Amino acid sequence: MIKRPVAALALAAVVSAPAALALPAQASAAPAASAKPAPAASAKPAAARVDCAKVKCIALTFDDGPGPYTARLLDTLKKHKAKATFFLVGKRVEERRKLARRIAREGHEIGNHSYSHQSLPALPDFELTEELSRTQDVLRRAIGRRPRLMRPPYGHTDARVRAAAGELGLAQVLWTGTTLDWSLRDTRKIGDTVLRLARPNGVILMHDVVPQTVKAIPRVLRELKKRGYHLVTVSALAGPGRLTPGASFPR
Ligand code: NI
Repeated sequence: MIKRPVAALALAAVVSAPAALALPAQASAAPAASAKPAPAASAKPAAARVDCAKVKCIALTFDDGPGPYTARLLDTLKKHKAKATFFLVGKRVEERRKLARRIAREGHEIGNHSYSHQSLPALPDFELTEELSRTQDVLRRAIGRRPRLMRPPYGHTDARVRAAAGELGLAQVLWTGTTLDWSLRDTRKIGDTVLRLARPNGVILMHDVVPQTVKAIPRVLRELKKRGYHLVTVSALAGPGRLTPGASFPR
């Protein structure tokens, strides 16, 4: 479930797109059970309304969950009032549906990271579409809506993958910096790497299934804030009109 270094990221045109996916904590029509009128955005000021065209933003992204350390990461993000983006694996969502719901409820963005984390370009058309569409359905049931973002496992992608994503209304999200946290497995080094990769409008790839990553985040958040960054979702970073189905971001 872990990334290998991706040498060549397929670069795709970045185009214009539908509005934000990153609905702030609005208790998105959670499925059946919780029909309670969630205490509307009360505790959450309009922190999500950051204009990244005007202020310094960065998007931390976490792949391969939800996993055993995700809850702790959510606690940390909440404490620091930071938003992040989670690219979830469909079959793991089935195992930890409540956690997926919590991610959404707390105002983070959720993207599709395929159902079983296979290298998508290697799959025949039907299976490729199935990997994405099945996860769309799993997430629809878990969080009440289908994501608009996907990240291909291992960053392996091509025109066919982007087209399949586009058919499902998904924009592809890659990254500007990868920590290789899964191979570092060292809290200090992972933190240092994130901070070295940090730059305005950066999209940083990490994995919340790596416990040392989750441990590194408190220091990372403190330091990034000290440097003046706003920690936002990928959609907030991209701004309105950039994440069209089939397009690729940040490049
Ligand atoms: Ni992955």
